[in-house]
Amino acid sequence: MADGIGSFFVTAVRPSPEQERITVSETVAIVGAGSIGVGFAVHFASHGYRVKMWDALPDAFERARNDMSARLELLISEGVVDSSVEEVFGRVSFHDILLDALSGAALVQECAPEQVGTKREIFQQIGAYSEKTAILASSSSAIVSSEFATVTPARSRVLIGHPGNPPYLIPVIEVVPSRYTDDAITQAAIDFYARSGLSPVLIREETEGFVFNRLQGALLREAYCLVRDGVISVDDLDEVVRRGLGRRWAFMGPFETSDLNTRGGIESHAQKMGPAYARMGQERGQNDPWTEDLVRAVSDQRRALLPLEKWDERVVWRDRQLIALRKLLG
Ligand SMILES: NC(=O)c1ccc[n+]([C@@H]2O[C@H](COP(=O)([O-])OP(=O)(O)OC[C@H]3O[C@@H](n4cnc5c(N)ncnc54)[C@H](O)[C@@H]3O)[C@@H](O)[C@H]2O)c1
Repeated sequence: MADGIGSFFVTAVRPSPEQERITVSETVAIVGAGSIGVGFAVHFASHGYRVKMWDALPDAFERARNDMSARLELLISEGVVDSSVEEVFGRVSFHDILLDALSGAALVQECAPEQVGTKREIFQQIGAYSEKTAILASSSSAIVSSEFATVTPARSRVLIGHPGNPPYLIPVIEVVPSRYTDDAITQAAIDFYARSGLSPVLIREETEGFVFNRLQGALLREAYCLVRDGVISVDDLDEVVRRGLGRRWAFMGPFETSDLNTRGGIESHAQKMGPAYARMGQERGQNDPWTEDLVRAVSDQRRALLPLEKWDERVVWRDRQLIALRKLLG
């Protein structure tokens, strides 16, 4: 694949941003036009950004165009996107040569397969041929960027921008710098994503799977164990999430959920439920007790967000959210 990418460069003549009448700050290059590449293209182009796409495989563009068209038609018919398919497509270009796609882009969003070797090859090229101030973000789901950023002298501009799928409907995006990433680039990435309508969250330490997939993984691991042990069927387990846990998680995280579940807040919740959860963890070979200090630290952050005097008011807010969801979902 490295040879394939390299051969595109030999004949490439880099057009100046002026030639292309591109505003750098409004241009995103997407490297890899699969599910996530298309998802980002739909997101950025429907928010007014110029999007330039490149893919290593020849048949990728036709599929990407069809997928984008289908996604946009749905979003437009549901009133989520307020433009025509033609207008949004008018901001998207497909490039045979990587260099052309990178030219003028303030953000390069790599969306290639989840393989360290592939990411290394790509970041070598992106680092060499992107604009010198561009943010170089990988959509990687689990691989930390220090695994591939070292291939380029531009490593201080490399970080992870891990989206939910699809990025045009799931707002959160995890921004994960490596130890090589310049703080100013991390902030620039956060600002760029936020301006485009995404909800960036800073992950402070590199950890495989970041937070989104670690949380998802914890639930999925337990789900597999429960099905393996004959405790529940696959569909009934999904039902527990669909009509139970997921209802609350649609608008609150696990900490706020626990905080509101018990009068006295999360500290009281930990006292009551902590020992049972510790036993469940031990049953799975996990020994990570919620120590007094840890619970205090979590509780301090919750109390800063919601003083206990406002707890009853927030419980009413939770119920209103659940009512809205009940009306929507039945
Ligand atoms: N699918 C998800 O739910 C999801 C969610 C968040 C993040 N991600 C991450 O986003 C990245 C892309 O995932 P995806 O689901 O879109 O994969 P995908 O297989 O749908 O698309 C990958 C695209 O990359 C292209 N490609 C292959 N080799 C390439 C190369 N060397 N250079 C450029 N492009 C190349 C392929 O032709 C394909 O179009 C992965 O790192 C993945 O972990 C995926």
